[in-house]
Amino acid sequence: MSIPSRSLTARPEWRALAEHYKTVGKSHLRDLFAADPGRGERLTAEAAGLFLDYSKHRVTDETLGLLVRLAEACDLSGRTEAMFNGEKINITEGRAVLHTALRAPRGATVFVDGHNVIPDVHAVLDRMADFSDRVRAGVWLGYTGQRIRAVVNIGIGGSDLGPMMAYRALRHYSQRDISFRFVSNVDGTDFAETVRDLDPASTLFIVASKTFTTLETMTNARSARAWLLAALGDKAAVAKHFVAVSTNAAEVAKFGIDVANMFEFWDWVGGRYSMNSAIGLSTMIALGPEGFRQILAGARAMDEHFRTAPLAQNLPALMGLLSVWYSSFFDADTVAVLPYDQYLSRFPGYLQQLTMESNGKRVTLSGAEVDYQTGAIYWGKPGTNGQHSFYQLIHQGTKLFPCDLIGFCRSLNPLGDHHDLLMANMFAQSEALAFGKTAEEVASDGTAAWLVPHRTFPGNHPTSTILADTLTPAVLGAMVALYEHSVFTQGVIWDIGSFDQWGVELGKVLAGRIVSAFRSEGDPELHHDSSTNALIRRYRARKVTR
Ligand code: F6P
Repeated sequence: MSIPSRSLTARPEWRALAEHYKTVGKSHLRDLFAADPGRGERLTAEAAGLFLDYSKHRVTDETLGLLVRLAEACDLSGRTEAMFNGEKINITEGRAVLHTALRAPRGATVFVDGHNVIPDVHAVLDRMADFSDRVRAGVWLGYTGQRIRAVVNIGIGGSDLGPMMAYRALRHYSQRDISFRFVSNVDGTDFAETVRDLDPASTLFIVASKTFTTLETMTNARSARAWLLAALGDKAAVAKHFVAVSTNAAEVAKFGIDVANMFEFWDWVGGRYSMNSAIGLSTMIALGPEGFRQILAGARAMDEHFRTAPLAQNLPALMGLLSVWYSSFFDADTVAVLPYDQYLSRFPGYLQQLTMESNGKRVTLSGAEVDYQTGAIYWGKPGTNGQHSFYQLIHQGTKLFPCDLIGFCRSLNPLGDHHDLLMANMFAQSEALAFGKTAEEVASDGTAAWLVPHRTFPGNHPTSTILADTLTPAVLGAMVALYEHSVFTQGVIWDIGSFDQWGVELGKVLAGRIVSAFRSEGDPELHHDSSTNALIRRYRARKVTR
């Protein structure tokens, strides 16, 4: 049984924010800007190639001071050091949390159980680089001697979302004579449609799974092996067309992949924090080793900034504290991530796992039930498309929508005035969301009185604007690290475990039981609720049997 905790909400710093919210929570961004015209220049910060404008947030200097004091009271700096130094801060799994070690320089030292992990990290990076170079140069050949023309990453969750997002984001820099595809869903359609036009003789599968036991991934990997063998006929072909990325050498060997073709990572890399590990092998083949190292360098620059910059100028800390402010004090349910860049179309989806698997928690580290709102629902789509779909609800609905707008000063595909139009829309949206259009402004152009309420925009929707010069591998690395550390900041304040994911287990166990019921002969005795039992019976009766 959990014990209700008052510890966070009883802190004087929290109570001061709760008190402060009573006034600032009601104020409008129009008034905040009118009272302080300099805030648009002042409430900004910059690091690792990213510029953050947080002036259009419902905060004053006092709010920011109080949030920083809360972070200090929660020992954000101490907890950050504990993470970077390899302490086992993932307490429910007894693990260190060291995605930052994946981008540490060769000479660094980070110890886990007395062992310096940095040489291991670089040994794997070097093996990945050698393998990637061989695939890219056509030195690594398929079983029949053909060059590899398609790389298919089979994985799910963190073993899919990061690599897929990174490939889409950095496609501009990728080797174009190799096609990169991603299979994740256990729905056979995903596999069938992905390989439909591929030639097995020139296809390389990367089976990416931290545990190498995940149902979806192993099912897809078995189908991939069958597809390959149906065409090439000889089991010896598997060695030329399958490599693995995992922490579990025994399961990799059991599957039939030579462990010489396995790229290792470690239990101190969480799945959703793993795109800088060997899980990024497809990214490295796409970009080449140098491009991958630039991603690491960008992430490392953000790591250093997070570790050393004062909290008041610290991008991840500020973004994390603002999320706490809206989730816990305004009860805002969501954060919309709106990249004004088509290459970032998968970035919101990637962030969903990072943020929601991390901070979707309802008990504190000591197991007490929280009495405040924790992790927000992250979602979003690229602009300008979203403007013609869901923005209506943001502008004139009844809910509060903090949004992150992400854009670049230079396009990777300069084409006429497309980029100016794109960026004009991004800036216009943050302006409209913040300031809206009052009834007086609407009426002033002669709009009929009855129509005025329909055409009024309340505004006061807070936004962060993240601006960089160009979308490069380093900038993407910095953006990922920015959100990783923002998530960490939120978790520290909320006193929750951001690095486990027990909430995904129950569904997996129940699915296993239901599959057994599908497979059993006759009319099996079912022990679910009446709805689930009836659905299982209906499905069994109607499904086409092979
Ligand atoms: O089910 C959730 C999860 O454990 C994620 O945390 C993880 O990213 C994903 O499954 C895939 O796990 P694996 O890499 O072990 O196949």
